[in-house]
Amino acid sequence: MTISFRDRVAIVTGAGGGLGRAYALELARRGAKVVVNDLGGSRDGTGHSDAAARVVAEIQAAGGEAMADGGSVTDLAQMEAMVARAKEAWGGVHILINNAGILRDKSFAKMAMEDFRAVVDVHLVGSANATHAVWETMREQAWGRILMTASSTGLYGNFGQANYGAAKLGLAGFARTLALEGARYNIRVNTIAPTAATRMTEDIFPAELLERFQPEQVAPAALFLVSEEAPTNVILGAGAGVVQAAYVTLTRGAVLAEPTPEAVAAQYAEIADRTGEIVPRSGAEQAMTIMQRLQGQ
Ligand code: NAI
Repeated sequence: MTISFRDRVAIVTGAGGGLGRAYALELARRGAKVVVNDLGGSRDGTGHSDAAARVVAEIQAAGGEAMADGGSVTDLAQMEAMVARAKEAWGGVHILINNAGILRDKSFAKMAMEDFRAVVDVHLVGSANATHAVWETMREQAWGRILMTASSTGLYGNFGQANYGAAKLGLAGFARTLALEGARYNIRVNTIAPTAATRMTEDIFPAELLERFQPEQVAPAALFLVSEEAPTNVILGAGAGVVQAAYVTLTRGAVLAEPTPEAVAAQYAEIADRTGEIVPRSGAEQAMTIMQRLQGQ
């Protein structure tokens, strides 16, 4: 089976470099018309450049179709204008990859709240802005694919990235509910946790691994998750050609002998025991498992 994006219009935010550029190039190579969004800032989100236009030139040189957009994901009106331009030129928007991001790393003890807010604003609120701008169009079309970009930091934590981790797990949570709300409109919403050597990770990647961890090695998982055959409501990890699935699991738990914190302490081993754990497909399923537990199942 060949995965084609012919006749699809895709928006990739933060596609002026790194992972977003790799996604945009591969989408275009497989036939998509691509909006390359990027304000072209530095790693901490300050400044501007023509990074998006350069990627558009690369796509066009390879025979593909693309347009540049210099809007900031933090500005809802700019995201709405970007979507309107794409629809005017190409008649719709089918795919949105929320990829734009910045870093303001510091241990939480030293982190100014301004740096917390800035990171949450770009990653989490920025993804919500771009998604809000395309959502109605995708519902009307009854076809949409949206990808959120989480991170191992969001899923599992990383020293010095409290702001980034909060935003990134927020994105995985955002995707969960959108996947449920979008299901009957054929809108599928997934999350990727990439690992790649880009300017974002250049200080931490050992030189000998740079070659293996090129952004192009993450693109296959990202493209699968926005394709016709994409699943919905999944979290995939991807890096260096290895693709993994991440789950938020729930244990069977324990029925407390009495409603006290002492009972929780006494029964903690049973509460945490992973035997028979499940992966609920919605929040409501957790409530159902509580009812089942009370009925002795
Ligand atoms: P990158 O810094 O090359 O790419 C991020 C892009 O987003 C930049 O081109 C930047 O100009 C753009 N951007 C920043 N603020 C923006 C705004 N307000 N509006 C529009 N564009 C904006 O870094 P990389 O690694 O390619 O990151 C892409 C995504 O992958 C990010 O969300 C990042 O958090 C995520 N990620 C990357 C990992 C890695 O190993 N490289 C690990 C986990 C997550």
